[in-house]
Amino acid sequence: MNFSTLLVEEFDGYSVLTLNRPNALNALNQKLLSELKDFILSFKDSKQRALIITGSGEKAFVAGADIKEMQELTPDQAHEMSLNGQETFQMLQDLPQVVIGAVNGVALGGGFELALACDFLIASEKAKFGLPEVSLGLIPGYGGTQRLSRVIGLKNATYLALTGDMIKADKAYNLGLVTEVCEPSGLNDRAVELAKLVCSRGPVAVGLAKQAIYEGYSKALPEALALEADIFRRTFATKDHQEGITAFIEKRAPNFKGE
Ligand code: CAA
Repeated sequence: MNFSTLLVEEFDGYSVLTLNRPNALNALNQKLLSELKDFILSFKDSKQRALIITGSGEKAFVAGADIKEMQELTPDQAHEMSLNGQETFQMLQDLPQVVIGAVNGVALGGGFELALACDFLIASEKAKFGLPEVSLGLIPGYGGTQRLSRVIGLKNATYLALTGDMIKADKAYNLGLVTEVCEPSGLNDRAVELAKLVCSRGPVAVGLAKQAIYEGYSKALPEALALEADIFRRTFATKDHQEGITAFIEKRAPNFKGE
């Protein structure tokens, strides 16, 4: 597939997706969002097991939705825009593969919301996170008012969304938003290490663990636990679980086939 706003590199088991509008700090215009949707659809059906998302250039992961494109929007068009971005990020979260956000610079507004739709995040020491929409007279429209409080709690999320303040990587780590902070030069290598780690695990189990966590999160605990037991049962119908357990007993590395 040919994209004008995305760079896709494929490796053994994992891919790296670089959001590539460096002159606009990788801002999410409609073209980029539409290409992202096409990419997600094709990646879903691929044999790849992990995806790393990062931004091109030194400065930005993504500086938000494209503000210039929003200048003439009517309220109805803004509603459409919000639904479209939410749908795209939900498709990303719903991928059966693991999505690792490697946040190399600013992740603001829609860029922060994209990061929140990744399964987990690592960040460069230069990364900054924020929801500056209120400084534009707007609110976050790509899931930020909903996903952020689920990750860092109500009060931290209201602080960020109501002040528009930006936080640095170390604070994002302390809030549990990112799992690791790396030297800028080491970010990509670390993301690759984590992608390879994920690729070594049982791919069906990884996808089902993801499903159990996200689906269970919006349920009451008794239903969520029932869901877990159901999905646990499903793992016992896979060849991978036989391989994983046999390999443990035989003291060798498992050779998962994704079946
Ligand atoms: N949309 C469009 N263009 C953007 C952009 C954005 N979100 N962010 C940066 N750019 C462009 C700038 O206009 C500039 O382009 P020109 O060279 O053509 O003027 C270029 O990227 C470089 O940006 P700056 O000169 O501003 O760089 P800086 O280092 O001085 O500042 C920054 C960096 C603090 C990130 C600043 O660019 C900034 O504040 N950007 C906007 C951040 C923002 O408000 N994001 C939220 C958008 S709204 C949203 O996302 C809604 C939603 O939830 C769906």
